Amino acid sequence: MQALELLLGRRSQPRLETPPPSGKVLDNIIQAGLAAPDHKCLTPWRFVICQGKGLDKLGEIFQQAAINNDREQATVERAIQLPHRAPMVLVAICNYTQDEKVPRVEQIASTSCAVQSMQMAAVAQGFQGIWRTGWYAKDSYVKEMLECKDEDEIVGFLYLGSSKLKNMKRPTRDAAMFVEHWD
Ligand SMILES: Cc1cc2nc3c(=O)[nH]c(=O)nc-3n(C[C@H](O)[C@H](O)[C@H](O)COP(=O)(O)O)c2cc1C
Repeated sequence: MQALELLLGRRSQPRLETPPPSGKVLDNIIQAGLAAPDHKCLTPWRFVICQGKGLDKLGEIFQQAAINNDREQATVERAIQLPHRAPMVLVAICNYTQDEKVPRVEQIASTSCAVQSMQMAAVAQGFQGIWRTGWYAKDSYVKEMLECKDEDEIVGFLYLGSSKLKNMKRPTRDAAMFVEHWD
């Protein structure tokens, strides 16, 4: 797939099934994340790749978080199934380091770039994915279970897998609404 075709046609796919990326394909996805732009080479990222029993574990964490927050019964019951919407969930964490030149927002930006690169590396190799967060990403119990410090940030749950569905065509946006040129 051509790089421009990938970037201009980029779409997410929420309906994901097995197989998940594995082997060299998964290595490439990881390396794409590790190639994210990174001010002062702080490498402010940590990734937890969940599949199989790892998805059960993540679901149990979500469910406990829903219970802790007194969420309604339907939310508690659904929570455990959420990670199973794909055969693989890659949790992208900004592992914040105090630095006088690189504020937290830049470290989160770097981690966000990693998520985008990983999703695109998956698509470039024939897989699909969707970047999700939801309130679970902010929840203190979920963060604790993922061994995050208070100042760390769960930047995304990147759901990855296969899909036979054809992605929707990206609607064209009028660049003039978003861009001004200073010549
Ligand atoms: C930081 C971030 C968090 C997101 N969280 C969610 C989410 O929790 N649930 C969801 O359905 N989409 C979420 N999205 C949006 C999807 O990843 C996706 O971009 C959206 O469904 C639009 O589809 P498209 O990527 O094909 O344009 C999030 C996107 C970003 C950048």
